[in-house]
Amino acid sequence: MRVALGVAGGIAAYKAAELLRRLQDRGLEVQVVMTEAAREFVTPLTFASLSGNKVITGMFAEGGGEPNLASAIEHIAVAQNIEALVIAPATANLLAKLAAGLADDFLTTLCLATKAPIILAPAMNVNMWEHPATRLNVETLRQRGVQILEPDEGYLACGMSGAGRLASVEAIAQAMFVALGLQDDLQGETVLVTAGRTEEPLDPCRFLSNRSSGKMGYALAEAARRRSARVILISGRASLEPPASVAIERVRSGEEMARAVEKHREEATVFLMAAAVADFRPAQVESAKLKRQAGAPVLKLEPTTDILGAVARRRKPGQLVVGFAAETENVLQNAAAKLRAKRLDLVVANDVTQEGAGFEVDTNIVTLLFPGGRRVALEKMSKREVAHRILDAVVELRSECAAEQARPAAWSSKQLRKIPGTRK
Ligand code: CTP
Repeated sequence: MRVALGVAGGIAAYKAAELLRRLQDRGLEVQVVMTEAAREFVTPLTFASLSGNKVITGMFAEGGGEPNLASAIEHIAVAQNIEALVIAPATANLLAKLAAGLADDFLTTLCLATKAPIILAPAMNVNMWEHPATRLNVETLRQRGVQILEPDEGYLACGMSGAGRLASVEAIAQAMFVALGLQDDLQGETVLVTAGRTEEPLDPCRFLSNRSSGKMGYALAEAARRRSARVILISGRASLEPPASVAIERVRSGEEMARAVEKHREEATVFLMAAAVADFRPAQVESAKLKRQAGAPVLKLEPTTDILGAVARRRKPGQLVVGFAAETENVLQNAAAKLRAKRLDLVVANDVTQEGAGFEVDTNIVTLLFPGGRRVALEKMSKREVAHRILDAVVELRSECAAEQARPAAWSSKQLRKIPGTRK
């Protein structure tokens, strides 16, 4: 995962080297970008040696002369390739330039050109930090969605005391991890994700399938991995690159998927059943291709195994089961019925007929339905964001489940029914 670390010219610039190390420890590939003034405090060589990458210090070729178009283009490519940008330290001057939308060097150009989340960690003299001009700039940037990590209070390099010290390296690194969806809150969980569409063979050349792209399931697998879960991805057809560090098992039919899920059923602690499994398959698979001359065949279909239903029925205490409901009408009623009938911990419902939701597209519009009747309708967002919101709900369910299980033994049967795995 590529990110950029911007360093502006302040006395705290040396701390950016420590931050670089912290980001690398988490497996991030870091492109360092320094302002002209930053080079007065730390040499680019320090960052180049630590990051193993060339440090970007200007828009154009070093040493004056003709502007180097190739390098300017290469630099702009950084804006598109990074998943987050952090600037530490961010000076008062830099905040002012960003608030005004200036782009007079590489770092400010990058801030305008990138669509990645931006985190600023200001550090400066207390009077500069408290100056109405800086307050206004900070407010303007916040309103534009830039995250500002307030400086700490303490003794400042200028000899004064007050707010202005760069936030701790750990706090800045954590803010980056959160922006990248790299929290640790699924550590210790084994998340089994089903994704993609199944293909139910009819003859050696044909099958029955559906329009699912697998994007939602793959986004879930990736998001769970980023949040430190061990991930088993059982994938039907999907033309997507599997996320890194995820154990993937590829299957074709619903029966193959059912077998793969069964193989890992004991070890999984969370099931996210996002696959579009065929509900019916041809009752008979022809060994030879059906020929046109033989006339139109009448297809007899039979039901496939309900994988989600089986997992939910046989779950052990503590296993959380999340189902999906892709509907075209009466979305919430149908989803609520699925939640009850299959005794799930969560159902993610979407109306696949809505624009920006469902098959093939990169966005989704879903409602989360919880057993107690609570419903959370999410606005249209990327499938990646939806994945994180679903995982937030899983983390919430996990803590409720842990709290319930920690209670003393004298339970009413009504209370017992509330614990996943003990419902009758
Ligand atoms: N599912 C499954 N096995 C099947 C069919 C569906 O595990 N054979 C899972 C899907 O992965 C999804 C959920 O069940 O999480 C809902 O799938 P869907 O086809 O929408 O619902 P069904 O329960 O099959 O009911 P219906 O088709 O009547 O809506």
